[in-house]
Amino acid sequence: MSPIDARQFRNALGQFATGVTIVTTFDDAGRPTGVTASSFNSVSLDPPLVLWSLAKSAQSLKAFQESGHFAVHVLGQDQQDMSNRFARSGEDKFAGVPHHLSPEGVPLFDNCAARFVCRTAYQYEGGDHVILVGEVIDFDTADTDPLLFHGGHYKEARQTAAEDDTGATVDVDTATFTEDFLSYLMARAHFQLSLPVAQLRRDWGMGETEFLCLSLLSLTPGLTLSELQRRLEHTGRLPEPETLEHMTAQGWVSCQVSATGEPVYENTTQGRELLVELLANSRLMDEKASEAFTPTELAEFRAYLRRLVAHLDPEVPSLWSN
Ligand SMILES: Cc1cc2nc3c(=O)[nH]c(=O)nc-3n(C[C@H](O)[C@H](O)[C@H](O)COP(=O)(O)O)c2cc1C
Repeated sequence: MSPIDARQFRNALGQFATGVTIVTTFDDAGRPTGVTASSFNSVSLDPPLVLWSLAKSAQSLKAFQESGHFAVHVLGQDQQDMSNRFARSGEDKFAGVPHHLSPEGVPLFDNCAARFVCRTAYQYEGGDHVILVGEVIDFDTADTDPLLFHGGHYKEARQTAAEDDTGATVDVDTATFTEDFLSYLMARAHFQLSLPVAQLRRDWGMGETEFLCLSLLSLTPGLTLSELQRRLEHTGRLPEPETLEHMTAQGWVSCQVSATGEPVYENTTQGRELLVELLANSRLMDEKASEAFTPTELAEFRAYLRRLVAHLDPEVPSLWSN
């Protein structure tokens, strides 16, 4: 067998995706100590045993070998900062971190995905590491998605699609559809997201097409009716001459005649103010919607929506180009 290349060996091991834990204990002066560890694993159900391994070079080695107890905190996906903090050697890692002590004196954090308080049952030699096996004497768990570690990077857990998920969500014979029907989901999300804004503009007697015109003229002032129609074609809400007449009469837009003799429109101060109020409400809904996702999910969700928009009709002009 060829000699083991340390870097390649490390990379190969990194292919084994794990969770991330912080293991805590106390030193001979009773001071809390802890390390980030991904080497945690289950061993036995009866008796309840778990294991992890600690580098012999770790400053906390003596504390873990002598204290007799430790606690394993399985981190949630929003606890990267904690993981990084406890991966730094030495330092006062507990400064400013809320914790309390178990009856055995082991420091415990709340708000992790799971927590196991253990009596140190066995210790084994493991090359440059020591393998610590703990008998679980107490544990709790929370409904939090775990933080993952893979290939030297933090990752988030994602459920794979079910094998039997055929995507058949519409039955045209009975004219029914299920909750997974994409068109239904998209429409429902749109209605729920835009309802407060729709209610507000209806209170002002402003139609959806008029709202879309105000938005467009805010991004690109000085458009003609035919330009507005071209840019709104994909919405199925086409402004008619009467739409612009109504908007002008309401004082939302003003009309000027261009050099080519065509009427061009732009928002009045009043039109801008109404649009600002509508957008402020939209932004609130945007923030509320965003709360349902992690930052990574949100970035992916936006990318999926952009892909869908481009896929369904690549010809639709961008709102921001001429
Ligand atoms: C994601 C991650 C997983 C880690 N897993 C382990 C591990 O299983 N065992 C270990 O000894 N060190 C592990 N480390 C490194 C220790 O957390 C790090 O060496 C720590 O500084 C040791 O602290 P101490 O020297 O104060 O005892 C890991 C670090 C990270 C970022």
